[in-house]
Amino acid sequence: RQTDLIAPSILSADFARLGEEVDNVIKSGADVVHFDVMDNHYVPNLTIGPLVCDALRKHGVTADIDVHLMVKPVDRIIPDFAKAGATYISFHPEASEHVDRTLQMIRELGCKAGLVFNPATSLDVLEYVMDKVDLILLMSVNPGFGGQSFIPSTLTKLKQCRKLIDESGYDIRLEVDGGVKDNNIKEIKEAGADMFVAGSAIFGAANPDDANDYETICGKF
Ligand code: DX5
Ligand code: ZN
Repeated sequence: RQTDLIAPSILSADFARLGEEVDNVIKSGADVVHFDVMDNHYVPNLTIGPLVCDALRKHGVTADIDVHLMVKPVDRIIPDFAKAGATYISFHPEASEHVDRTLQMIRELGCKAGLVFNPATSLDVLEYVMDKVDLILLMSVNPGFGGQSFIPSTLTKLKQCRKLIDESGYDIRLEVDGGVKDNNIKEIKEAGADMFVAGSAIFGAANPDDANDYETICGKF
């Protein structure tokens, strides 16, 4: 098993002072910046694109950036994110006409490739592409918004997915996204996840400068 990584989702950050917000969580010990890209087409919300990723790099962010694309079609935006400094690029299989090709493209651009599964999407597609993914992201809410509640059936799916990864023998990260809080992160870890996205739990702190919510979350491991 790889070491656990906490990935604060900047969707819940204050966008007017994004650089500072990211610096704060990284300083507090967070490992990865989770970057939610929404297109008001694949999901009913609109967020940020490669320009903002590039701006974070120029601001001095050196942590890994985990780009979660909720965009359809997905292929044409991928090179821009690679150029903008993305570390991981993940997409939903429903958003690509040719999943295998999209995965290969991400790796060819020098990034780590991820596949994202909505709560009601089957893991079947993994069967033929296990050798082409670096990351599997299980959505524990329906994508589009922060602050939703964790869907409990994700725990069963996490266990199934952990088994698939272990049996494959590949070095693949298992990430979970949506409704991760200090009161459920332990269960989620026990079900097999090793990368934890948390948006509102981290940035929704009463005092926005208090990134210590990160520590509260980590303390529950
Ligand atoms: C939802 C996004 C999540 C979201 C998580 O579509 O993919 O990354 O920001 O937010 P919380 O942790 O508040 O559920
Ligand atoms: Zn996300």
